Order: sequence, then C-alpha cells, then structure tokens
Amino acid sequence: MANLSGPMAARRAGPLSGDCTAPGDKSISHRALIFGALADGETVVSGLLEGDDVLRTAVAMRALGAEIERDHGVWRVVGGAWSTPASSLYFGNSGTGARLVMGAVAGAGVGASFAGDESLSGRPMGRVLEPLRMMGVVASAEDGRLPVTIEARGALEAVSCKLAKPSAQVKSAILLAALGAKGITKVHEPVLCRDHTERMLGAFGAELVFDSDGAAGRFISIAGGQRLHSASVDVPGDPSSAAFLVAAAIITPGSEITVKNVLINPLRIGFYETLREMGADISFENKRESSGEPVADIVARHSVLHGVEAPAERAPSMIDEYPILAVIAAFANGETMMRGLDELRVKESDRVAATEAGLAANGVDVKSGEDWLCVVGAGAPPTGGATVKTAHDHRIAMSFLVMGLASEAPVQIDDAAMIATSFPTFAEITSRLGAQLDAA
Ligand code: S3P
Repeated sequence: MANLSGPMAARRAGPLSGDCTAPGDKSISHRALIFGALADGETVVSGLLEGDDVLRTAVAMRALGAEIERDHGVWRVVGGAWSTPASSLYFGNSGTGARLVMGAVAGAGVGASFAGDESLSGRPMGRVLEPLRMMGVVASAEDGRLPVTIEARGALEAVSCKLAKPSAQVKSAILLAALGAKGITKVHEPVLCRDHTERMLGAFGAELVFDSDGAAGRFISIAGGQRLHSASVDVPGDPSSAAFLVAAAIITPGSEITVKNVLINPLRIGFYETLREMGADISFENKRESSGEPVADIVARHSVLHGVEAPAERAPSMIDEYPILAVIAAFANGETMMRGLDELRVKESDRVAATEAGLAANGVDVKSGEDWLCVVGAGAPPTGGATVKTAHDHRIAMSFLVMGLASEAPVQIDDAAMIATSFPTFAEITSRLGAQLDAA
C-alpha cells in the first residue's frame, strides 16, 4: 500500500471484491463538532471523519472555548460559552469549516480571524459575508477572500433572505448566525441543497419551521436566542467518498463490492441516480435510519454503461461527484452531458478545467463550456498513460487514480497528499478490495 504523499500511480489489477466502509461523512462531521461546541453539555460523536479538514475544525472549536477529546475513536465535545480566540483560526483547504464557523462565530457574538491555504484563500467568501453583514456583522475581507476578520458584536438582527445559489455552506452560516439574532430569520432556498444543518439543529434541540409559501423550494424559519443542548451523533459513511469505491467497482471487469453504512440522504444521492440511468448495477440494501439520517449498504458490480444527460437541476445533489462521474463516463458508450456546473469552478480547484485536462491527457474525447462538461465514451477503457495535475484537489486526485484501475495503461497523479483532507484511508481501503496503487 502506498503512502498518501507525492506522486502515485494506479494500474489495472484483478476484479475488486469484498465489503468495506467509507469514512464518516465530511459535512456531518464538521457540523457535529461545531454544534457540539455550541451546545450545553457533552456531545458524543462516533464515526467522525478524521481527515485534515475536519481535524482543523476541531482545533478551531477548541480555540473558541470547547473542550474536545478523542477516546478510543469516540469524540467527546463539551460546549458552552465561546470567547474571541487570541490567534487566527486556520482552516487549511476547507470551505465548509471556514464558512460554517463564520456563521457560528457571528451568532455566538464573539470575534475571530479566519485563514486558509492557497486554494481556500482564492475562494469566494463574500457569499457568506454579505448575508451576515445584513444581520449586523462587521467583517473585513479584501476582495471578499480570506483572510477574513469578524468583530465581536452584541445580538444581530434577524433577516429574511433568498439564497442566490444553492449552497448548504451559505445556508448553514446564516442559520448558525440566526441563533444569536433578535427575532425570526427566514431563509428561502429556491433549489434544495443538503439539509444536514437543519436536521442536526433539530437533534440539538432547536426549533425550525419549514414552509413553501407557494414558491419554489422552501422557506426555513428559525428564532434567535435558542440554546442548543448536547446530543449524540453517529456519523454515517460519506456518499461522496463512497462514490470513488463504487466507481472503481463499476468500471473494473468482474468486480462486486459492498460499501456499508453509507448516508443516502435524498439531497446527496444525485450521483447514484445518474449511475442507475447509465445502466449501472448498484443497489441500496438494508436501508435504515441513523442519527436522523437515512443510511444503506451500497452494492456495486461491474456494469456496461451508456452515456446520459445529467440535468442542471440535479447538480446540488451531486455537486462533489462530477469529477468521478466524468471518469466513469469515459468508460461508457456515447455522450454524457453534465450541465449546471458553474459552482464547480470555485471548489478546491476549478474542477471543470482540472477534470477536462486530466481526461484529455489520458486519451478521452471531452469538451467543456462555462457551466457544462461533455464526455464521449468509446464503450471501452480509455488509453490512460498520462500524469494528471491534481491542482491540490483531493477529488481530482482520487478520480484519476480510480481511472487508472481500469484504463489500458496506468494513470499517475502528481501528488496524493490532498486525499487526506477527506479520505485518509483511500489507498488502504481500495488496496484491500484488490486495487493496485503504488508510489510513483
Ligand atoms: C458542503 C456544501 C457544498 C459541498 C461541500 C460540503 C457542506 O458546498 O460542495 O463539499 O457541508 O455544506 P457549497 O455550499 O459551496 O455548495
């Protein structure tokens, strides 16, 4: 098994088989730590994703005043009163950590400075700061980017606002700030996006009201001044990480794997719906509920695929899965058109550009526009053989390693280090299923 740093190559091996688990869901893991840090009492979190992004959120929560301990894989968070930390909070590569904590800091009435790595420092923060400023937050940021400083203030004012784009990070930041606002904050999301914040606020004792008022999407109302109380959270497997394992099985002849205990929240499974439309042999078995979220074991087998159109309306439910979907499309027969990808340009990298460049270098017929990507598969394995620039993006890195498991020639990536942000056990788990990954 290869180490997760430096160049790495993936080559064809035998079929993949066996049972595995994906790491804990990244979105839920960040939220469990943040909500636990805000809540009175001790929150117990099992199954937390111990990836770099989430560990940085844990450090930030400690700096704000929470007590956090890890004991035999279980995390205990004692929350309560926050205070302004002495030094800047560093979020590394994590947009979720930085944006959610901006909202939480504002709602808690304390101040903080926010910093991140080069990629995060280039990503837009104005989308969070604008609604927070409407609520009375005083924040400084040059050109709407990190570093950002939020000043300690008294209570904020409640607002009614409409999300300009479907973004769970922006929605969550507003809802967390609303906990410290006078009055009822109402957020209109015309297009639904992941609702883990709403679900978890309920589990931590907050009251939210949902209505549709005859408009598209839904309105979420939350009264300020509500205290959260501790809860216990069992984090299910991340469907966005499971996507790489499922993809590997689908494109590798003879494979059959089961990824156990994966989150199947309806607002997260657009990738799996699209795969089914492409003819993939996948099923959700043993469906059940865990900590207020639906989960299942995903069974995936090698499949003969055809191209499809992935509509723009589906983008919020599969926003992180386009690079791996594009790789799968390269093995399918015919054209796969993915629309509604404008947000992909401002993720950990410009994922439209990075995916297109990686596919083209490996012999795939691909084209793109500002908000679309089109992959024409030959119904046979692509040639492979190239080195892909990951642009320090974990999902680009994993997507092209998966491609190398079934392309004619091995595929190499320039650096595997960023994989640790969301899936530190990626090489270990895929190797155990039969994949051939080597430091290159
Ligand atoms: C996330 C929301 C999405 C997603 C990210 C996690 C979250 O980002 O891409 O990986 O946990 O709220 P946007 O809110 O920018 O769409």
